[in-house]
Amino acid sequence: MKIVAVVNNKGGVGKTTVTANLGAGLAARGLNVLLIDLDAQASLTKSFFTVQETQDFVLAKRTIGAWLQSSDRGRAQTLADLILSPQRCNALLKNTGGRLDLVPSDPFIVDAEVLVPGAVDQTGHIKAAKFVPLHRRLADDLADPAFSKYDVILVDCAPAFALTTKMASVASDMMVMPARADFLSTEAIQDMGRRLLDLTKEYNKHQGEPPMRMPRVKVLFTMVQMRGNQPIEVQAQFINEVTALGVKVFGTLVRDRSSAYAASGRHGVPTILATGVPPEIRGDLHGCVDELLQTLERL
Ligand SMILES: Nc1ncnc2c1ncn2[C@@H]1O[C@H](COP(=O)(O)OP(=O)(O)O)[C@@H](O)[C@H]1O
Ligand SMILES: [Mg+2]
Repeated sequence: MKIVAVVNNKGGVGKTTVTANLGAGLAARGLNVLLIDLDAQASLTKSFFTVQETQDFVLAKRTIGAWLQSSDRGRAQTLADLILSPQRCNALLKNTGGRLDLVPSDPFIVDAEVLVPGAVDQTGHIKAAKFVPLHRRLADDLADPAFSKYDVILVDCAPAFALTTKMASVASDMMVMPARADFLSTEAIQDMGRRLLDLTKEYNKHQGEPPMRMPRVKVLFTMVQMRGNQPIEVQAQFINEVTALGVKVFGTLVRDRSSAYAASGRHGVPTILATGVPPEIRGDLHGCVDELLQTLERL
């Protein structure tokens, strides 16, 4: 089982779209995939379930928020209890041998540390003694045998280096970082790298066991404007700039095409499984799945 966190502090760079499509693409190759929605916007949840269903999960306390709120010991709500099976998507995966499950999010997980009982002191800071167990919480719970049936677990993170993103960083075997090919995104990639390094140092200062290794990050350029088969020049420059920084980058570029992505999720089916999708769009997404599989094999 491999855990892949999909991260970027910037919003609107395609994290949720990438998570949904990579997940469905891996499942279409016959793998058992679990998606975990760690963003309070619950966009990933709403990509596979209706808005009404998403609200019902919150009311029934069957979300990642309920998991955060349950106490450390004898957790009322285990992560495994929250696994759902999106029907519309799995109906399309019927003959592939693969499946796709999801743990839903809710709007109440913005300040996750405040939700976890006993995690913060009176000033709102994480207690030193709680630092490691809190940051390991996702990693520890995913070690439950209930998750060993999954080949890949993809974690869609919030557009912030929040506690939930840090939990995903500690738990992950690798990170996919969707990014646009522009100046501010190039800055954001470097900023994210610094924050991950700081987290790794802080975690190890608190003597977390096993020690945390700096996560392996692979940038995936999304919403790229293509002319023919090449990105437009200014974007090609930013892609080269990021590559020159020594950052690993997906060879596949996900092109910008609102007509293929705007309605994605509305019918509970990601673009990669939808009908009537142009071959070049499908090709981009399958190219990403191929590369992710190759990267995971080498881990
Ligand atoms: N390759 C693409 N081309 C055009 N629009 C896209 C593409 N990828 C994502 N989008 C759109 O961009 C918006 C933001 O994407 P989303 O995946 O929600 O980003 P994030 O999770 O990083 O905030 C969504 O409306 C989505 O439909
Ligand atoms: Mg998102």
